[in-house]
Order: sequence, then structure tokens, then C-alpha cells
Amino acid sequence: PAPEPKPPAASPGSRAPPASLAACKLCGIWRSKWKPVAGAGPVPAAIMLVGEQPGEQDEIAGEPLRGAAGELLDEVLRRAELERSGLYLTNALKHGKWDVLDSPRQTAHGQSTIRVHKTPPPSEVEACGYWLDDELKRVQPRAIVALGTTALRALTRQPLSLSEYLGQTVSHDGWLIVPTYHPAYALRTSDAKLREEIVATLVAALVRARQLAA
Ligand code: URA
Repeated sequence: PAPEPKPPAASPGSRAPPASLAACKLCGIWRSKWKPVAGAGPVPAAIMLVGEQPGEQDEIAGEPLRGAAGELLDEVLRRAELERSGLYLTNALKHGKWDVLDSPRQTAHGQSTIRVHKTPPPSEVEACGYWLDDELKRVQPRAIVALGTTALRALTRQPLSLSEYLGQTVSHDGWLIVPTYHPAYALRTSDAKLREEIVATLVAALVRARQLAA
């Protein structure tokens, strides 16, 4: 896992910055018992990928995009001729956003709660923007790939619709953002043709980022 980033200094009048990502209380998710997952990769890096939020496998690995969505991303990276180790990967939210169902289930490993993935509300995306800004300053990417709507909105701080920006490059605050699907979208379909269309769109976005960053 990448070392935890140091928080940037407070600007006058801002809320006191958290001492570290682990101690962050800028939104209410810190109350969950799950650990935040910091971004990982070289600093600086020419290309930065931004997902939505860590899943259970990512929390265990301590790195973003290591679960099923990450495996699909690895297929996309191979096709786009990019090495994961050369990229900086992070998420709009550093904590996973889950609903915990009341009734615990019995598993082979004992009791465990049921976690249901939730799309984070704008207030949490906004609060976690503190860490994304810090990463952008440190990583200085020449191209940023926004994987899905939450990432696009986190990067632009605007309620943009992903479908309107697919295939385009969005310039925001001096950053070049390539919006594309979240890899989990391809995993949710059993239609092989649609899956391939989604994967091909992702590959095209990564190739575009590679060209922008060259
Ligand atoms: N894992 C991540 O790190 N990010 C996502 O958006 C999905 C899974």
C-alpha cells in the first residue's frame, strides 16, 4: 500500500484539516468501522485514474481497484497498452459507502454483516474532495480518467451527466479529464455484446489519456 498522504496546510477560514486520512472526520462515514483506502501509485504520475469508492477487497488489499472491477480494469489496461504500476489510482471517496443490513448472516468464517454498496451523496463527495485536491497537487497528472459519474462529479465539482461527456476531454481548473464508464458497469451485464462495448469504450478512454499525457 502507498504511504498515507500528509494533509495539506489549512487555508485561512477553512475547517481544521484532519491530522491524517485515518483520522478524517470531514463527513460522517468515519463512523463505519471500515478503514479508508488511500490512493496508490507513483508521485508524480502522468496519468491518474479516479474510481468511486473502495470495495471490500480494496480495503483488505489497502489499495484502490483491486477487487472484481479492478480485475476488469487490468484487462482494459492491457488492451490500452498501459502498466498499472505506472499509473496513480484513487477514488472520489476514500471510505467505502455502505448500508449495513440489520440481520447478520452466518458465513463459513463466522458471523458477518451484509454490506450493500451505496452511491455517495454530493455532500460526501464534496467533503472528500479535500483529499482529491491534495492528490492532484502532489501527483500533477497530465491526464485524468474519471471512471464513472461520481468520479466525474468529484473532479469537476459539478453535477455533470456522464453520457453527455463520453468520448470527450473535459478541461477543468487546468486538468484534462477523460470521462468514461466505471468498470463495474460492464460486470453488471450478462449481455456479452454490451459488455464488449463498455470495455471498448474504457479502452478508448485509456488510449486517449495515454495520448494526452505523452
Ligand atoms: N474499487 C475501487 O477502488 N473503486 C471503485 O470505484 C470500485 C471498486
